[in-house]
Amino acid sequence: MKINTICCIGAGYVGGPTMAVIAKMCPHIKVIVVDLNASRIAAWNDDNVNNIPIYEPGLSEIVAEARGRNLFFSTDVENAISEAQMIFISVNTPTKTYGSGKGMAADLKYIELCARQIAKVAVNDKIVVEKSTLPVRTAEAIKNILDNTGNGVKFQILSNPEFLAEGTAVQDLLNPDRVLIGGDTTVEGEEAIAALAAIYGNWISEDRILKTNVWSSELSKLSANAFLAQRVSSINALSELCEKTGADVNEVARAIGMDSRIGSKFLKSSVGFGGSCFQKDILNLVYIAKSYGLTEVADYWEQVIIMNDHQKRRFANNIVKTLYNTVSAKKITFLGWAFKKDTNDTRESAAIYVANDLLNEQANIAVYDPKVTEKQILFDLDYLHSRTEAENRDGVEVFEDPYEACKDAHAIAILTEWDVFKTYDWEKIYEQMHKPAFIFDGRNLLDGEMLSRIGFKYQSIGSAKK
Ligand code: NAD
Ligand code: UDX
Repeated sequence: MKINTICCIGAGYVGGPTMAVIAKMCPHIKVIVVDLNASRIAAWNDDNVNNIPIYEPGLSEIVAEARGRNLFFSTDVENAISEAQMIFISVNTPTKTYGSGKGMAADLKYIELCARQIAKVAVNDKIVVEKSTLPVRTAEAIKNILDNTGNGVKFQILSNPEFLAEGTAVQDLLNPDRVLIGGDTTVEGEEAIAALAAIYGNWISEDRILKTNVWSSELSKLSANAFLAQRVSSINALSELCEKTGADVNEVARAIGMDSRIGSKFLKSSVGFGGSCFQKDILNLVYIAKSYGLTEVADYWEQVIIMNDHQKRRFANNIVKTLYNTVSAKKITFLGWAFKKDTNDTRESAAIYVANDLLNEQANIAVYDPKVTEKQILFDLDYLHSRTEAENRDGVEVFEDPYEACKDAHAIAILTEWDVFKTYDWEKIYEQMHKPAFIFDGRNLLDGEMLSRIGFKYQSIGSAKK
């Protein structure tokens, strides 16, 4: 099938950057990104390209180059579906919050809606690409809906999970370790795989384009995230042991990471992993294992989440304990709210849970994050329903200036590893704080020796207190 127009349903953290890069690298293909959320589409179309809804280094430049040429953002889902030969589904697949599988299974209602809409609109053959992260065997359900509610046209379903990480999305898309495409092992399936591979072939070498059956591809995505998250929970589990024994987790990580069989990446001890993917995808994997009666498999992976919850909680507990067992009415400043640096995404950020625990202890939380808005921070806390919205607004103040945020604080907690935090005038910050002035570095970001010389009581994750 010759592809000259593609459509992507879902203009989020994956759909937006992925389609922008495809449009940049394939000027001969028209790329239409659609979303039900009209304000999100309006932001993608904003005249000022710096106002696009997602912050990713390098993204606004690519949007500026391709938008209006062969990249379009629209709310007209039906027209885009009918025009395109290939349709990517890149909608959100959050953890279910109701009914069976509540708190574990992926909620596939948005996926099903997309499938029904595609079936309703399509009057010629289409390739439907699962870009969202989905439980293994979802393609079967999509195929069922398409074949039973469609207009008799033929559909091929491909799985093409996205491996980009936020904060490095553009680089990850331009130069991926691999592109994974799963499809039917029939002639038509292979043709569909080849059509999608040809698009990526415009900038990615053939040996990096991996072709598998649909089920392997769907399961590989959940597995990759589970393996990555497991490494973070493993090093975090060791960080607590380091604190008790006098070992230093940075030294341990370096020593084990230099073993080429282990490798050095994803061994940074932290206040706990966040983001929209790890927790959701592992819970999904656990649920799938349980639904096949594989209790040990489910328990094994669930421990990764249990460890992560423990790491967030013990960070908050340690702040309370160190501040003489009470933080009531004390100002505690959070530097960082995003789940990692270089993104404005806060989904499942450790900061939310640490703030929640400290608010339960009646602390006053001050927050500064270079890219996250006050509205988002309050929304994240309200979403937990731990207290009234008025109480959250009483307990939390969001600042536009980091020095103002730190003024009169009893303690500073580093929750996100933004590089700019390293460049601050820490002597000035020290002078304006209550003494003893504590820093709890949840990212092992700052120079502890320098801070201790200034007078701070500095604590990092996984090493003895200075
Ligand atoms: P997101 O919430 O940022 O974006 C999803 C978008 O889909 C939203 O704008 C929503 O309005 C839109 N949408 C939902 N239903 C729709 C419908 N029926 N029609 C039109 N638009 C609809 O989510 P995201 O972070 O981009 O993630 C999308 C998928 O990609 C998820 O399955 C996720 O697991 C996966 N993924 C995410 C990342 C990541 O780093 N965020 C990385 C790899 C894979
Ligand atoms: C992840 C996967 O990396 C990506 O391949 C997948 O497509 C989507 O999910 P993302 O969630 O964007 O990407 O960010 P990632 O860089 O994986 O970080 C996840 C969390 O783990 C962050 O909170 C990060 O700070 C934390 N982390 C990561 C650590 O605490 N230590 C590390 O060594 C690495």
